[in-house]
Amino acid sequence: MEAFVRGLPKAELHVHLEGTLEPEMMFEMARRNRVPLRFGSVEEVQAAYEFSDLQSFLDIYYDGAEVLRTEQDFFDLTYAYLEKVVRDGVRRAEVFFDPQTHTERGIPFEAVVSGISRALAAGRTKLDISSGLIMCFLRHMSAESAHETLEQALPYRELLLGVGLDSSEVGNPPEKFDAVFAQARRAGMLVVAHAGEEGPPEYIWGALDTLHARRVDHGVRSEEDADLLIRLVEERVPLTMCPLSNVKLRVFPTLNDHNLKRLLDRGLVVTVNSDDPAYFGGYVGENYLAVARALKLSRDDLALLARNSFEAAFLRVEERRVFLAELDEYVAAH
Ligand code: ADE
Ligand code: ZN
Repeated sequence: MEAFVRGLPKAELHVHLEGTLEPEMMFEMARRNRVPLRFGSVEEVQAAYEFSDLQSFLDIYYDGAEVLRTEQDFFDLTYAYLEKVVRDGVRRAEVFFDPQTHTERGIPFEAVVSGISRALAAGRTKLDISSGLIMCFLRHMSAESAHETLEQALPYRELLLGVGLDSSEVGNPPEKFDAVFAQARRAGMLVVAHAGEEGPPEYIWGALDTLHARRVDHGVRSEEDADLLIRLVEERVPLTMCPLSNVKLRVFPTLNDHNLKRLLDRGLVVTVNSDDPAYFGGYVGENYLAVARALKLSRDDLALLARNSFEAAFLRVEERRVFLAELDEYVAAH
């Protein structure tokens, strides 16, 4: 089963680049940028990765991101992620970054977006991974700050696939960012949003109706709202789920309690993703394997999850067709 899952062609649609910062790389960047760390060793860092909820994670995650300073750092971070997931069968990666985490500290927007984009381009040519970049607004910050960030991004419009919304969910509903998402849509950007991770189903309605999100990131709390489930099925709105993340942040007590299989069986376009793999104990391949074991997924379930990942990806018709054909061929041969 492990070999089948690792080789299964798939798209990853929910990964925060800052969440791929492995402790070893954190130490290396702290050293070369002369940034003090409050940890003495990789083991001390790993011991600190015990979270009680989303906020307890975010506090440590924003701390860790402080070692990222130069364009080269953003290149190295992104390329290291691509090198890892090429071994997990990832053929397409739509990756998130949080510019405000960096521009707040005086890092130029240009350094962030150029470093990441150069790595994605190298990933296309050297690793044959198709990719797209999604800029997320931090929802704990103001709508004005999101506007300023969009203004900074517009000169790099052609490097960006779309915009998203992340960080502390509860108390920061989608409606807070109504205007900035409208402006992003007018600029031709595709919209995704974290919703229903810790926040209520109303936030998922808001992501769809107010922000016009094409995909919902997490969306696990959709299960509490029967009308919402009907809508998600009828409109085939994908949910980008992250099972290991949800257990680490105590959204579900254990993986056996996760609703991924129930929602898949109800006809939702569920996908499997990693969120912040350096913090949550696994990349996308480990997420597939962990849910497969805990929820007793069949081969057909796994193939459907991979199919959903390509159907939910922001791909041109021809590229989608090629990936789906590759997937069908793989499943037929194994
Ligand atoms: N930023 C990074 N990971 C996140 C998550 N799981 N939820 C919200 N914001 C995030
Ligand atoms: Zn996320």
